[in-house]
Amino acid sequence: MKPGYILLLSVLLAAVSCKEAAPVYKDASAPIDKRVEDLLGRMTLEEKVLQLSQYHYGGRDNKNNIPDSFGEDPKTVGSVIYSSPDKELAVELQRKAVEETRLGIPILFGYDVIHGFRTMFPIPLAQAASFEPELSREIATAAAMEASAGGVRWTFSPMVDVARDPRWGRIAEGYGEDPYLASRYSEAAVKGYQWDDLSNPRTMAACLKHYVGYGASEAGRDYVYTEISRQTLWDTYLPPFKAGIDAGCPTVMSAFNDISGVPATANHYTLTEILKDRWGLDGFVVSDWQGVKQLVNQGFAADGKDAAELAFNAGLDMDMMDNVYAEHMEELLKEGRVKMKDIDNAVRRVLGLKFRLGLFENPYPAEGEFLTPEALELSRKAATRSFVLLKNQGVLPLRTAEIVLSGPIADDRHQVLGSWHAHGVDSETVTIREAFDKEGFRLAAGAPVAVVCIGEKSAWSGESASRADIVLPQEQIDLLRAAKKAGKKTVTVISAGRPLDLREIEPLSDAILYIWQPGTMAGPAVADVLTGRVNPSGKLPVSFPLSVGQIPIHYNRRNPARGGQMGRYQDISSEPMYPFGYGLSYSNFEYSPVQVDGLRAKVTVTNTSDVDGDETVLWYISDPVASITRPCKELKFFEKKHIPAGQSEEFVFEIDPARDLSFPDQDGKIRLERGEFAVQASSSETEYLQY
Ligand code: BGC
Repeated sequence: MKPGYILLLSVLLAAVSCKEAAPVYKDASAPIDKRVEDLLGRMTLEEKVLQLSQYHYGGRDNKNNIPDSFGEDPKTVGSVIYSSPDKELAVELQRKAVEETRLGIPILFGYDVIHGFRTMFPIPLAQAASFEPELSREIATAAAMEASAGGVRWTFSPMVDVARDPRWGRIAEGYGEDPYLASRYSEAAVKGYQWDDLSNPRTMAACLKHYVGYGASEAGRDYVYTEISRQTLWDTYLPPFKAGIDAGCPTVMSAFNDISGVPATANHYTLTEILKDRWGLDGFVVSDWQGVKQLVNQGFAADGKDAAELAFNAGLDMDMMDNVYAEHMEELLKEGRVKMKDIDNAVRRVLGLKFRLGLFENPYPAEGEFLTPEALELSRKAATRSFVLLKNQGVLPLRTAEIVLSGPIADDRHQVLGSWHAHGVDSETVTIREAFDKEGFRLAAGAPVAVVCIGEKSAWSGESASRADIVLPQEQIDLLRAAKKAGKKTVTVISAGRPLDLREIEPLSDAILYIWQPGTMAGPAVADVLTGRVNPSGKLPVSFPLSVGQIPIHYNRRNPARGGQMGRYQDISSEPMYPFGYGLSYSNFEYSPVQVDGLRAKVTVTNTSDVDGDETVLWYISDPVASITRPCKELKFFEKKHIPAGQSEEFVFEIDPARDLSFPDQDGKIRLERGEFAVQASSSETEYLQY
């Protein structure tokens, strides 16, 4: 071939291969870190900063959060909080981002899918009462399947704030007062949302929130200062976050609270030192709604620009709804107040998740159904497992075909959905009355048993929904009085998003079933349990105080200097009305003495009744003498088993000293000290072990 032809041919080949060589970041087969670097290398500063910004589209469904207007919204942003039930808007936004922008970076759509998307499941506090984290894992998977079909691939859940003050409305959103219980639920929810493979388009990335210590809100008020010692941070508030990170959670939301003088939004110790450096978070941290600007209200930053600098340098990657990163980052960079390498690192974290979610390949909502029979069945099952039987003087299960049914919750379709009910639709809730109609129960005024269904409104708990008096309105309690007066046996069914003060209600009730806020299948689930088709097995994940004057009254307090009657209240009992772990069953369970053999503890539980039932054994450890005092006892393991009538089951707790006998110091360093430890199975006598 002549040299001229060879030249022409190679020019042509080069032109063809140039045209065909797609950028590495668009190559689905390239490793994610290569794709991230390739894309990052092509981005302008403005494009980078927009990846660190989150805006909002869709209906304003949260009264606490009214979005500011940002004028002409850019076509590419890192993320959008997407609260519209109509997925077409998401499709349109994504189409613009993917097709009409220079680099075609897809948007990450996030939303508060807290206990379901369209099918509503029991609120998280209720889920914790089942002591079955595997059920919550299934719930999270079902929620992800609906949400991904609605255009959402990132949920601001699970909320793993340990909460010990029932006045705080957000206690409804988490898993109660115990760090171990919350940790097990944290990992279950993360795994449930994410399956084992985030690139599956039916999954959602989880987001642990609110990091950290938000549950310590003073006096149960919301958004306020929190006084948390470093010891308590490590003992109580950090463990559920660590468990979620270990389970693979790629994102974390910083909290609104000021942690003993350094707000969580700009706290370098918690965000960078702990979360990123020690725990190795490979994804990113997003602020809570306008949390960055709120540093000004908290007296930590002078203005928005100052706030952006402080939050960003503390390790906060994405700014939710503040627009302060977009407004000030370029200037901050010019002034040397933030570094280019840190901006790049934050952008890497955000892009990394987008690649892991497969958004570049599958940017649009998945196909999928809502309210499938499987989802509804799961919702019903989870609800029945979460109910806690607080009192039963032989009236349950119902043995009569005639009842009187009263109270606002009997016909309710909305309050039982709880707060953060996403796209749950009232008309899809099955009411308690409808469920009893289906059972063929006769509702007759002369019936011997009154089922009185009372409770809180859904808006009485959740965000910015604190209550100083945690009682139900008198007109609801009057219904119980009326039933008693009419000589009925009274079954009180209580729906609430928090523990309530039940001092007035208890003596007026022959039975109390606490149903929390059970979701779409509230009615059938209540009927399942009241009729005895399902034997209740829930236990309280949080102590119920006798009165607000006792708060805080969690079970795992440290020992007092003087015991016995000393230091106790003079006017009321110092014990809670119902302690953590309390819950009755239609069966009777008897515990054998705990036996300890080396590091193995076991107990035999016998169902001495003629009703099959389920029992959860809660294993506690106490460390009576330690170089840093320990709580009087700590939950370290639990297990729930089905025990048929008349039969026994052995429950075993294999104690791992590094996991179960150790404790952190005030910087999280683990101490394992030899000595004597006490072991207890639920409320059994304690046994001792030497280590
Ligand atoms: C809440 C968060 C929520 C966020 C987005 C905030 O006000 O504190 O829990 O995820 O709004 O809706």
